[in-house]
Amino acid sequence: MNEAVKKHWEAETCGVRYGASEDRGEWFREIERARYLCEPQILEFAEFKKFRAKRVLEIGVGAGTDFKNWVKNGAQATGIDLTSRGTALTKERLSLEGINPNRFNLCVADSERLPFKDGVFEMVYSWGVLHHTLNTGQAIKEAYRVLKPGGIIKAMVYHIPSWTGWLLWLRFCLFKLRPWISPRKAIYGHLESPGTKAYTLEEAKELFESARFQVIEIKTSLGPGDLLNIAFSRKYSGFIYKIIGLMYPRWLVRLFGNRFGLELLLQARK
Ligand SMILES: C[S@@+](CC[C@H](N)C(=O)[O-])C[C@H]1O[C@@H](n2cnc3c(N)ncnc32)[C@H](O)[C@@H]1O
Repeated sequence: MNEAVKKHWEAETCGVRYGASEDRGEWFREIERARYLCEPQILEFAEFKKFRAKRVLEIGVGAGTDFKNWVKNGAQATGIDLTSRGTALTKERLSLEGINPNRFNLCVADSERLPFKDGVFEMVYSWGVLHHTLNTGQAIKEAYRVLKPGGIIKAMVYHIPSWTGWLLWLRFCLFKLRPWISPRKAIYGHLESPGTKAYTLEEAKELFESARFQVIEIKTSLGPGDLLNIAFSRKYSGFIYKIIGLMYPRWLVRLFGNRFGLELLLQARK
């Protein structure tokens, strides 16, 4: 199953559709601008500056925007991704920024089998990744293992009930006359890589606690999928999606605040 996940992310690394420039440096800057414009909550959640000189592991670097910021803010950063495309893009991006390769460590690896010794990191960070892997519980146990006692994990996983879940349910269940299929299943089958999971707040807390973490903060946030302020992927590139994107009642979604956001932001301690 992780082969299917890998295939999906090798085909299109997260966020690259926001890059349009011919110039590679500018292309990466476009990706970064779009990322923090659509999801300013990342900056507040990650607290890049707080981890100067700390040993940080990022699981699932994707195109490397956050990873670059760990390195630039002075963390002793290690990053992994299931795809060689993700780690290659991240390396290219750091090299274009003139960052000495001795200042970071990047490799292709699976979050379910981290190639690190026990207790080496002070912080594990993972944005939008752990719900993609086949055995999320195992990946969380691995994060626990590689953290030092007292170390922190900061992770974003997908949340239900959420606007994105309901949108996918409308599109792939109700409109296909299969209303009994749940939003959770719609996310599983149609949101990004096959088998993507989403959790209620209680389920996420339990998931991390069963890996022996002590949850210190858990909250939800609206994501670009909920607000439909994303650049649609190729799968959603038709005329009808353009109309939906224009007519979507973002004001109504905002009115409910973060309660039904797709992003579940969790911090926990070992
Ligand atoms: C939605 S993207 C997020 C990337 C990045 N964190 C971001 O926010 O742009 C998911 C990433 O997780 C990676 N991934 C999925 N399963 C993984 C696993 N088992 N181990 C490591 N990385 C994984 C994918 O290759 C992909 O780059």
